[in-house]
Amino acid sequence: MAVLPILPASSPVVHQKSKRVRRIDGSIHRLLDDLVETMRAAGGVGLAAPQVGVLLRVIVIELSQGEIIELINPEIVKATGEREVEEGCLCLPGYVGRIKRSEVVKAKGVDRDSKPVRIKADELLAEALEHEIDHLNGILFVDHLESLDDLHKVEPKPVAAATE
Ligand code: NI
Repeated sequence: MAVLPILPASSPVVHQKSKRVRRIDGSIHRLLDDLVETMRAAGGVGLAAPQVGVLLRVIVIELSQGEIIELINPEIVKATGEREVEEGCLCLPGYVGRIKRSEVVKAKGVDRDSKPVRIKADELLAEALEHEIDHLNGILFVDHLESLDDLHKVEPKPVAAATE
């Protein structure tokens, strides 16, 4: 496993669309392991492969320690409701923004053993799923800002705001 450098929002790579994973082999397992290690080292609660320069549809989320969600080719199946959240991103350290996210999210994908995974989520998990799957489409949370007034500078390592 390795801690990989996280690309900044200024990198063109994080604005590109990622490709579907066709075959889950050792390289994908290694990518998942590296994503988890990199997310933990950065103090984040989620990370998507394009953030480390790999344009493949792979994400990891860990809201509580040890409860890792690994999703390959994840998709939002259904999103309902709307709420305002304050969100950050490891590609844009030192900033949080108020944006709108869904209240309830249903997502699907496969795990590292190619087993289908279905998740129904609310609260932070719903937000993390939308945030990370956005990354696979080249979308950062700042793309959801209605106004630049909704973007705020914070201390580089915010404790209250989750960074994904
Ligand atoms: Ni992010």
